[in-house]
Amino acid sequence: MKRSALWVTIAGAILMTIMAASGATAKPGSTKKSSFGKTPDGEAVDLYTLANKNGVEVAITTYGGSVVSLKVPDRSGRLDDVVLGFASVDGYENNTSYIGALIGRYGNRIGHAQFKLDGKTYTLAKNNGENTLHGGTKGFNKAVWTAKEIPAKDGQALELTYLSKDDEEGFPGNLHVRVVYTLEDSNALEIEYSATTDKDTVINLTNHSYFNLAGPGSGDVLGHLLMIKADRFTPVDSGLIPTGELRDVAGTPFDFRKPTEIGSRINSDDEQIKLGGGYDHNFVLNRKAGEPISLAARVVEPKTGRVLEVWTTEPGVQFYTGNFLDGTLKGKAGISYTKRSAFCLETQHFPDSPNKPEFPSTELKPGQRYHTTTIYKFSAEK
Ligand code: GLA
Repeated sequence: MKRSALWVTIAGAILMTIMAASGATAKPGSTKKSSFGKTPDGEAVDLYTLANKNGVEVAITTYGGSVVSLKVPDRSGRLDDVVLGFASVDGYENNTSYIGALIGRYGNRIGHAQFKLDGKTYTLAKNNGENTLHGGTKGFNKAVWTAKEIPAKDGQALELTYLSKDDEEGFPGNLHVRVVYTLEDSNALEIEYSATTDKDTVINLTNHSYFNLAGPGSGDVLGHLLMIKADRFTPVDSGLIPTGELRDVAGTPFDFRKPTEIGSRINSDDEQIKLGGGYDHNFVLNRKAGEPISLAARVVEPKTGRVLEVWTTEPGVQFYTGNFLDGTLKGKAGISYTKRSAFCLETQHFPDSPNKPEFPSTELKPGQRYHTTTIYKFSAEK
């Protein structure tokens, strides 16, 4: 082989490696499966890259059903990755911040790591002070899900399934969970969650993607403009467990009914802001009766014009400003994930609902089907 040909081969191999690591491998209108590594137990983990007809791409790994990357256009059509994520399975094993992952069996916190159901007390793991966070020690974010490409009416779809066995992390009932991610040609990522159980249980599923609409390595998200369609939020105690009150947002730093910079009140002298170390609160969405799915939040990034709208069938959304990110986690392309370098809008039932009979119920019984939908819609403003 000539020297020049050898260099072309080497450069090609390097390029392929970079593309595989960033998941940038699917042709428009197709889905591509590749290896994402192995768990320490030797279980194979895959990466599915779904590309819609516009070339918008989402990469999803079977490890935790996590969204690894999501490339959407800015106002000039330039694609950039707008979510935090890791280049391989090892990153997800050390993912203490639940970046991109599916969360279950119960998203957010259950107070004192226990709840009562049908007169029986269930004891869970205390993995967040005195409380249970995001399903316990080994939540759905650490499971290897079974994946299947399925036909979509519009765009590309991936089905993920997982059986959470009776008593897993202390929760009752064999829970069959199905999550379908659809990347639509309208540049929307739809997540449809469903589940059935064989014993009375509680369930609250979500996705924990961290967004920065300005793209990777672009600093903090404090200049993003946020609107949340909520007149009330659920104030918390020092363990971030809701007190039970539904508090009016008017006159507080939690009033996002009109588009407001995320950073404009994030350091204010407010008891709830201090308890959260910024925003880490559940908002009570203003859903209209009979509306099948409602707009929950809208975010605009002024420099790039990128817009994210969150639509959901759920009653709440956890707005979290990455207060616990401290630069320790290193993501794709070696970027350190620093405080407030991303935000989360986790659609959900309210935290600690199993201990709060006044909140919308999270109970699921045999014969019933849990079914919720959340859509992340992307566009750009001039
Ligand atoms: C949720 C919680 C936060 C934090 C993150 C993950 O948003 O409410 O307190 O635990 O998850 O780091």
